[in-house]
Amino acid sequence: MLSTLTSLSLLLFLVNARVWNDTGDGSIVFEEAWTTPGLLFQSRFMVLSCASPCVQGLTDPDNATATATAINDELANLISNNTLRFGAFAALAMQDPVAAAAELNRTVTELGFLGALVNDYQEIGPSDNSKLQVTYLFYDQPEYDVFWQMVVDLDVPIYFHPRTNIPPVSTLMWSHSSFLRGPVQEFAVTLSSHILGLCVNGVFDRFPGLKVIVGHLGERVPSDIWRINDQLQRQLAFGMPMQQNVTAYLQKNIFETTSGNFATDLLQFHIDQIGESQILYSVDYPYVTMEQGEAWLENELPAVLHKDAILALKRGRAIELLGLNR
Ligand SMILES: *[C@@H]1O[C@H](CO)[C@@H](O)[C@H](O)[C@H]1NC(C)=O
Ligand SMILES: *[C@@H]1O[C@H](CO)[C@@H](O)[C@H](O)[C@H]1NC(C)=O
Ligand SMILES: *[C@@H]1O[C@H](CO)[C@@H](O)[C@H](O)[C@H]1NC(C)=O
Ligand SMILES: *[C@@H]1O[C@H](CO)[C@@H](O)[C@H](O)[C@H]1NC(C)=O
Ligand SMILES: *[C@@H]1O[C@H](CO)[C@@H](O)[C@H](O)[C@H]1NC(C)=O
Repeated sequence: MLSTLTSLSLLLFLVNARVWNDTGDGSIVFEEAWTTPGLLFQSRFMVLSCASPCVQGLTDPDNATATATAINDELANLISNNTLRFGAFAALAMQDPVAAAAELNRTVTELGFLGALVNDYQEIGPSDNSKLQVTYLFYDQPEYDVFWQMVVDLDVPIYFHPRTNIPPVSTLMWSHSSFLRGPVQEFAVTLSSHILGLCVNGVFDRFPGLKVIVGHLGERVPSDIWRINDQLQRQLAFGMPMQQNVTAYLQKNIFETTSGNFATDLLQFHIDQIGESQILYSVDYPYVTMEQGEAWLENELPAVLHKDAILALKRGRAIELLGLNR
């Protein structure tokens, strides 16, 4: 994907990716690849983004910043004649929170992007990441407040998508059981730590209006919420910045999607824990087929959710969260 960038350095069209066709039905999905799936489902709306690890895998700050801008222009160009069906999340170089905030502003205000998608932590350091000279940056540190302030000012969501670990970490963690790499275990472990980092480091307390989206039914955080709350309660006495419990952020700031996790029982448990208002349908295309997601919506969900609740799950809340009718 990156290799095609040089051919499209100019933005050929003026884009407003927020102009869409509100058909009244059909699902809205946030996906991680910008391959357009043959317009399979006629009333579907898709938010496209750059597949993992994208810019988060580029260690050099200047290179990452320049690449993010080129990717965003290319994505805008790609959807420019079809924004009725496709929206976009920006790619951001997260080494420099000020520059990331400025690029988010540019893509949202000038291109009509609906928010951004970050692929978990940002790599920074020497270009060779095969040794442990590279550092991971997590956006739960105070220097990212300037970025979160922009996110809140623009009132757009930031999607946290998983990525793999760099080779030396991957070797330490997963060489004993390489079948557990990626979506089985590695993604949820790494990304849920980042999400919980935002909680315990007080990011949602400093930015009460912040909206973060996590796929795969919240990377297991709501599933494990009893133990998380119970154990964090014991840390309060040791100066943890977090002002509330994790449930409170899950009920307000963190939105999860069903992407790649069509577990009906678990969905019901999550509805009990965090509320329907926090849960949106998505698929995980192209790693999961659109047909599998649609079959779940049509064949399994009617047994547990009313028609109106399914409509809200598959599009109503996305329209609100993405500000599509803004
Ligand atoms: C919007 O979608 C509806 C239903 O698919 C279709 O009939 C209509 O032509 C679309 N409008 C535009 C402007 O594409
Ligand atoms: C980023 O670095 C890669 C690899 O060194 C290089 O091929 C690419 O042209 C650079 N991109 C930019 C935008 O500087
Ligand atoms: C958008 O442009 C491409 C390339 O010119 C073309 O193939 C495609 O049919 C266009 N799509 C729409 C919806 O106009
Ligand atoms: C976004 O950038 C524009 C200038 O391009 C500026 O006027 C505006 O204040 C910025 N928005 C925010 C929320 O800072
Ligand atoms: C979390 O905090 C809220 C108050 O913000 C409280 O009502 C709720 O009982 C707490 N939940 C747990 C599991 O501690």
